[in-house]
Amino acid sequence: MSLSTSPLRRLLYVSDLAPAMPSTVVGQILRQSRERNRRLQLSGALLFDGERFCQLLEGEPETAQALMRRIAQDARHCHVHLLLDKLGAAPRLMTQWCCGYADHEAFDAIRIAAVAGPEHCTSEFLRLLSRCDLSS
Ligand SMILES: Cc1cc2nc3c(=O)[nH]c(=O)nc-3n(C[C@H](O)[C@H](O)[C@H](O)COP(=O)(O)O)c2cc1C
Repeated sequence: MSLSTSPLRRLLYVSDLAPAMPSTVVGQILRQSRERNRRLQLSGALLFDGERFCQLLEGEPETAQALMRRIAQDARHCHVHLLLDKLGAAPRLMTQWCCGYADHEAFDAIRIAAVAGPEHCTSEFLRLLSRCDLSS
């Protein structure tokens, strides 16, 4: 993936697994995301704690926004809450896309950081990532 400083949009959101949705849907989401994100040069990470998601997405502005729109309408989750939508955010914080499992307390920390503002959430998310076992 290019590390160039071309225009960039960075998005961060939290959401809940939809009621009655088996957590096995996460496997489908990861399969879809890996291939498409690589093709669209989207970087970031998706974390799941068994009930909730938190995702950082970075990419070319239109591409990242279009994907965020599709994600927001995806019936496999609900209560999608955008914590950060930043244009001109180059360079990327992450050079590739990855996913991992986080514990409940870690997700609570992100929601608490949200009160202090979008940049705090992003720092908290990156701190959390450094403690997770990630796969790409
Ligand atoms: C929590 C969550 C995260 C997702 N993350 C991505 C992602 O990073 N990349 C992606 O292509 N699709 C992701 N998806 C799937 C998209 O919502 C959508 O189903 C997929 O892009 C296919 O869209 P299409 O059916 O319009 O082709 C995610 C879905 C959920 C519920």
